[in-house]
Amino acid sequence: MTRQSERHRRVFACQECGYQSSRWMGFCPSPSCNSASPLVETEQTPARSSRSPWVDVSSAPFQELANISEESHPRLQLPSQELNRVLGGGLVAGSVVLLAGEPGVGKSTLLLQIAQSMAAAGRKVLYACGEESTQQIKLRSQRLGFDGQGVFLLAETDLGPMLEKLEEFQPDILMVDSIQTLYSEEVPSGPGSVSQVREAGLRLTRWAKMRHAPILLAGHITKDGSVAGPRVLEHMVDVVAYLESQEFSAFRILRSNKNRFGSTAEVGVFEMTGQGLSDVPDPSRALLAQRYEHAVGSALVPAVEGSRPLLLEVQALTSPTQLPAPRRVANGVDYSRMLMIAAVAGRRAGVELAGQDIIVNVAGGFQVGEPAADLAIALAMASSLRNASIDPGLVAFGEIGLSGELRSVPQTQRRLDEAARLGFSQCALPQAALDGLEPPAGMKLRPARTLRQLLQAVLAKPERARGL
Ligand code: TYD
Ligand code: MG
Repeated sequence: MTRQSERHRRVFACQECGYQSSRWMGFCPSPSCNSASPLVETEQTPARSSRSPWVDVSSAPFQELANISEESHPRLQLPSQELNRVLGGGLVAGSVVLLAGEPGVGKSTLLLQIAQSMAAAGRKVLYACGEESTQQIKLRSQRLGFDGQGVFLLAETDLGPMLEKLEEFQPDILMVDSIQTLYSEEVPSGPGSVSQVREAGLRLTRWAKMRHAPILLAGHITKDGSVAGPRVLEHMVDVVAYLESQEFSAFRILRSNKNRFGSTAEVGVFEMTGQGLSDVPDPSRALLAQRYEHAVGSALVPAVEGSRPLLLEVQALTSPTQLPAPRRVANGVDYSRMLMIAAVAGRRAGVELAGQDIIVNVAGGFQVGEPAADLAIALAMASSLRNASIDPGLVAFGEIGLSGELRSVPQTQRRLDEAARLGFSQCALPQAALDGLEPPAGMKLRPARTLRQLLQAVLAKPERARGL
C-alpha cells in the first residue's frame, strides 16, 4: 500500500449532504439530496466520533418510559413570546437550535437579543463570534441599547480550544455565530465544508447534552434556501428554525422545519426596528393597518399557521400580455397552485385569464401554502380581471378542485372567529364547510358549491364593472 493509505485516502464528496464516492461525478446521486453541484475532491476522514452524542452516559441502561420524569427537560423562557412559540414553549435545556437565514436577515441581532435577556436573568452567557470582530458586536449591542453586562464574547473558531474554553467557563447558554466559521485541525478540509460542519455539529451537540446547556447556532443558507453545506447538520440538531423576510419588508417570519420539542407548524412574527427585532403579537391587525380597503384585485383569507390564525391579504394584478406566452409571477403563494387556480377559473368559472399576464402577491412578505387560500387567490384574480373590487368587509377561504367545486378545509371555526375578532362581517366559504359551524355574532356567511356560483354572488357584475 502506498503512503497515501487509509487515513488520507482521497474521495469525492457532495458539499450538501456529505455523500462520498471514489469517482468524480457532476451531481450528487444520493436520492435524498437533489444537489446539482459537482462532487469535490477531499481527503477521507476517519469517523472520529465513536459515541453517539445523544446517549446520556450517566443514566441507567434500562429505564421504563413511564418512570422518566419530564422535569429533566425544563424549558427556559426567552424574552420573546414569538420565539417561545416557535420553540414549542421555550428553550429546552441541552437542546441545540439551528437558526438559519440569509445574510442580513437578523440572525446575529436575534442571538444578541437573547444573550442580553439571558444575562439580565442572571445566566452565564457565552457568545462565540467567528463571523464578526468583538468591536462589531459591541456596535450592534449599542444599537440595541444594551451595555453588554453579563455577556461574554469568545473569539475562537478552532473547535479544540473552543471546547476546552467551554469546559473552563461552563456557560449556562452558548451562542455560536456562525457554525460555518468553526473548524477543527483534525479534519483536513476547509471551514464551512461538510466534514468540518459535521464535526463541529457533533462535538457541540455532545457538549450540550453532557452539560444540559442549550446552544443556539447561526447558520447561513444558500440561494436555493437550504442550510449552506451542512444538510448533515439538520439531522443532528434538535430544532431547525428559518428566519425569513421578503425584500423591502420589515417583517421577519420565523418558522421551524424540524423541532424535537414542539410543532413545526408554528410561526413567529417579528418586525425589524431601530432597536432590533420586536414581537408582532397581532400580525393580522398589523397587516390590515396598511390595507387600502377598496383596492381592486385584493382578497382576504383567514389562514392558519400552526395554532395561530393569520388574516392575510392576497393581491392579484392581471393585464393583457405583450408576449407570446403570458407571464405568471407568484410571491408568497405556490407557483403551480396559482397556475392550477387560474386554469380552473378560466375553464370552469368563465374568468378568461388565458391571454393575461398574472402577478399574485401576499402582502407583507408572508407566505401561504395551504389550499384554504385557493378561494382568495381566485377572487383576487377575478376581481382584477373584471376591475371590480370586493366588499371590504368580506373574507374568503376554501379549496378549489379541478372541476371548479369548492372543498372544505380544516379549522373553519377558528378562521371565522379570527375574521370576526377583526371586525369583518361576511365570509365566503364552501357549502361543505357549514357543517357544525357556529357563525360568530354579526358575521354573515356566503356559502357556495362552485367557484362560478361564488364569483357571481360576491363580485360586482362585469356589466356594472365595465363602467368603473
Ligand atoms: P444581522 O443580525 O447582522 O443579520 P445576519 O446575522 O442574519 O446576517 O442584521 C443585519 C440587518 O439588520 C442590517 O441590515 C441592519 C439591520 N438592523 C436593524 O434594522 N436594526 C437593528 O437594531 C439592528 C441591530 C440591525
Ligand atoms: Mg450575522
